[in-house]
Amino acid sequence: MELLRIASISADPTKSAEMTQAAAWVKARFEQMGLHAELIDGDGSAQGPALVYAETPKIPGAPTILVYGHYDVQPCDPLNLWTTPPFEPAIRDGNIYARGATDDKGQMLTHLQSLSAWMATGEKLPLQVKFLIEGEEEKGSEVLGHALPGLKEKLACDAIVISDSSQYAAGQPAITYGLRGIAYFELRVHGPKADLHSGSFGGAVTNPALALARILTEIKTEEGKIQLPGFYDSVQDLQQDERDMWKGLEFSDEAFAKQLGVSALSGELGFTTLERRWARPTFDVHGLLGGYQGEGGKTIIPSWAGAKISFRLVPNQDPQTVARQLKEFVAGHTPPGVTVEVIDLHGGSGVVVDPKSRFMQGAMKAVEEGFGKSPVLIREGGSIPIVADMVALLDCDVLLMGWGLDDDGAHSPNEKFCLEDYYRGIRASSRLWQYLA
Ligand code: BES
Ligand code: MN
Ligand code: MN
Repeated sequence: MELLRIASISADPTKSAEMTQAAAWVKARFEQMGLHAELIDGDGSAQGPALVYAETPKIPGAPTILVYGHYDVQPCDPLNLWTTPPFEPAIRDGNIYARGATDDKGQMLTHLQSLSAWMATGEKLPLQVKFLIEGEEEKGSEVLGHALPGLKEKLACDAIVISDSSQYAAGQPAITYGLRGIAYFELRVHGPKADLHSGSFGGAVTNPALALARILTEIKTEEGKIQLPGFYDSVQDLQQDERDMWKGLEFSDEAFAKQLGVSALSGELGFTTLERRWARPTFDVHGLLGGYQGEGGKTIIPSWAGAKISFRLVPNQDPQTVARQLKEFVAGHTPPGVTVEVIDLHGGSGVVVDPKSRFMQGAMKAVEEGFGKSPVLIREGGSIPIVADMVALLDCDVLLMGWGLDDDGAHSPNEKFCLEDYYRGIRASSRLWQYLA
């Protein structure tokens, strides 16, 4: 609750004091359990919230595990939709409600709590555990991205453990073996030098908002196909055995649509809902900017309009290549009378790991004992942008062991984490060290 009370919104430049406070809280928690911990600041090339690092002693002959997590959270708007304020954690019906409860403060803490319990027993840990908890996951891990090459030795490990994803369903834990990547942009369409009276000038100039709408709808067809030339060239296709395995997972399109409050699902032709969410790229609009946003009507041709957009990527797609493809596409689809700026916000590659990797059996056993049910193997559609870079640099396995639920409201109002899942996660983590060793 102390950590949840800190408004560590990494995207909000007015929250730098809160970022510092959250990093200090995490560091102090490590010290409280008797670990040496340190803050790693960005170098000259990237400024931002500190990384928190801690480690237990190396055990000769035993593996080293790196736990990754994040103490930053997403913005909270619209605030009026929260039953209780986002940074005043409240417990209702067995859930704890707060921004960051599930993503990722609560999930990340399960590993600190389990290690703390181990340390309190005085029992010798069977392997070395390192922790890297960062404060910029929700905005693309800039500081960590820059610092990473220099941390190769410090972070050296056999496997990375991350609890920052979800179970398959309530009562059905999962281990995730794939994440999508992301490439995030802001588009800005510039037109007349000032807003114009739409009666006097309408019909004679290009409206930037309308030009923006045209460009956006041209990026993806109604059949869910992305139109950037070359976009699918490097896409790693779904494997038949994966498709077969996922067909064995209990899933109902009707129940899913109902849970989300939509009258129908839509997506890329030829793929099931799970395939669309976990293993196919997509394009989305996150916000629209510009023009008149106040009460009532105002008759203008806005001088500019903008959009926050992203592509979810799958393995082998490179965010920088997508950026180039987007810029070319936009240039070719800009109507006369406006200019379009494409601003790169951040990106990260997708990952798929071998579900039969060396540590998977131990991880599955730990989850089974913690949750009372054997986990299923899934992929997820969300992104943890730094994971692919860490795997490439450290040449290690990744175990994505998520304790959240699909209806936790991550990035949404009334985010929650089921307290029982918090305790199950701690139990699973406490066994994990043993079984991975
Ligand atoms: N914890 C999520 C990633 C996630 C979500 C994994 C759902 C599996 C299932 C993470 O905090 C997140 O939200 N990542 C962002 C990354 C982006 C802002 C660079 C995302 O996926 O939108
Ligand atoms: Mn997260
Ligand atoms: Mn998140």
